[in-house]
Amino acid sequence: MKQNILAIFLLCLTVCAENSNAQSELPKADANQKWWKEAIVYQIYPRSFKDSNGDGVGDLKGIISELDYIKSLGVDVVWLNPIYQSPNFDNGYDVSDYRKILPEFGTMADFDSLLNGMHRRGIKLVMDLVVNHSSNEHEWFQKSQSSRNNPYRNYYHWWNAENGKPPYRYSLFDINHDAWKYDTLTNAYYLHYFSDKQPDLNWENPKVRNEVYNIMRFWADKGIDGFRLDAFQFVAKDTTFPMFPKGFEKDFTRYYAMQGNIHGYLQQMNQQIFSKYDVMSVAEGAGNTFEDAHNLVDSNRHELNIAYAFNGVDLAKPNGYSLLQFKSIFSQWDSAFEHSGWLAVFLANHDQARMVSRFGNDLPQFRTHSSQMLSTFLLTMRGTPFYYNGDELGMTNPKFSSIHDYRDQVILDEYKHTQMTGGNVQALLKNLSFGARDNGRTPFQWDSSRNAGFTTGMSWIGINANYKTVNVAVEENDPNSCLHYFRKLVQLRKNNPTLVYGKYTLLDKANPQVYAYLREDAAGKFLILLNFSAKDAVFSSPTLSAKAKVVLANYVKTPITPITITLKNKMPLRPYEAMVIRL
Ligand code: GLC
Ligand code: CA
Repeated sequence: MKQNILAIFLLCLTVCAENSNAQSELPKADANQKWWKEAIVYQIYPRSFKDSNGDGVGDLKGIISELDYIKSLGVDVVWLNPIYQSPNFDNGYDVSDYRKILPEFGTMADFDSLLNGMHRRGIKLVMDLVVNHSSNEHEWFQKSQSSRNNPYRNYYHWWNAENGKPPYRYSLFDINHDAWKYDTLTNAYYLHYFSDKQPDLNWENPKVRNEVYNIMRFWADKGIDGFRLDAFQFVAKDTTFPMFPKGFEKDFTRYYAMQGNIHGYLQQMNQQIFSKYDVMSVAEGAGNTFEDAHNLVDSNRHELNIAYAFNGVDLAKPNGYSLLQFKSIFSQWDSAFEHSGWLAVFLANHDQARMVSRFGNDLPQFRTHSSQMLSTFLLTMRGTPFYYNGDELGMTNPKFSSIHDYRDQVILDEYKHTQMTGGNVQALLKNLSFGARDNGRTPFQWDSSRNAGFTTGMSWIGINANYKTVNVAVEENDPNSCLHYFRKLVQLRKNNPTLVYGKYTLLDKANPQVYAYLREDAAGKFLILLNFSAKDAVFSSPTLSAKAKVVLANYVKTPITPITITLKNKMPLRPYEAMVIRL
């Protein structure tokens, strides 16, 4: 294999070396260096990671038992999806007590030993904070709902029915997409941007904000290292509830995101919490424009650290996506954040189907190379990689074919709605098997034993049929596996701050198959070549010719001894081939 690659490089052999005098203008190490910029965030979906007691549901003790595995990846921050007390309508994104652990997941003592075990290994913990809404079973809501005069009434948004129907608001999760739910008890409607079991908190009420800061203090005092603020771009509202134009729901984030005094609230939160603890902060969603995103994270504003925007991850559609568009989105975001602010870089999370199935190719012959190629992208871009558990194995969508395979209530409601309104159920199922959130929530694949080593009981959701070939144990034994490759990528990024802070320059822009870019600073220069297609491709760049070393490549057998090559103008790439080349 090594021979092969050398032969290909030799084809491009030339002796000219590039002379660059631009080095002095490149970014240098300075006060802008932060641990959360250098971190690699590994997202763990607790329900599906590891079950310790055979009830079929992943739990904290399960995560504790695999801390050495997490450490072995080299990642240094774990983001945990919600583990708080919850009726679990939306898998923990409906919190009924922010200071308690969901019994299914364990106890507070388990949490403390998890945090301790992480810190002992040099791993930081970021918690999910779900405060755009609570559960309808939270005691605040129960009190708020009980009477119009209850002191908690203004913790949520109510519209008295004698004033007529409230102006239409779109709900992302409601079966009828209606975000106002009528409640007979007080003859009023309450607002829920998500499901009716997730009433929106009234951030305009200073008492609500103080409650949230106290919750944040509770966790920060325990020693956690950061917060991921769920759906936060939606928290502020114009509580006069003006009428929105007809059809606004097609573009609802224009009307819902970054409204009212959201930046005032974030500055207050920063002053109360972020400035007092060494914690990182990231909010889900970054509004509608670069300006919105900058307003969240530019350091002189004292709000958040990292902007998490969806423009890239939203691109994949069942019939594919355009690499040209993909390159253009990531390049535009990079250049918009070249001088200030900081971004998250990600292609998957618990709300998305699997990265390799959406952006790569999950056919057996391409799965490994294409997942490795995508991981190469994530770990060589500027910005903090948010890497989703299981992607380091190249886990794929499970290809569920029946609605009974799904557990996500939002999907089940959408299905019912489609049935009731005479919609095309088969088409919906097809779309779901490509894009549904449950695709990314099937159990983590540990080994080839029953239930992929995830549980000794009945898993809460089906296990991917490919678990006998795609799992940790098998991949540990294969030096060319996704897992080993991921570890090498992590080390490469850790050892080369150039990949964190260095300037990014897109090359061969119009190439529809290849994504190629430079990362460079005063300390060094890397060329990253990624063939995003299932066909042979050719990278070409008329200006690039240099002596170079391949430091990581997914077609080369491990361990890599750096291969010196001389690049000129053209470089052939095999299907989903990825290379990191030091120039
Ligand atoms: C966020 C979460 C998602 C959840 C929703 C409502 O988008 O990531 O999982 O369903 O908020 O809390
Ligand atoms: Ca369990």
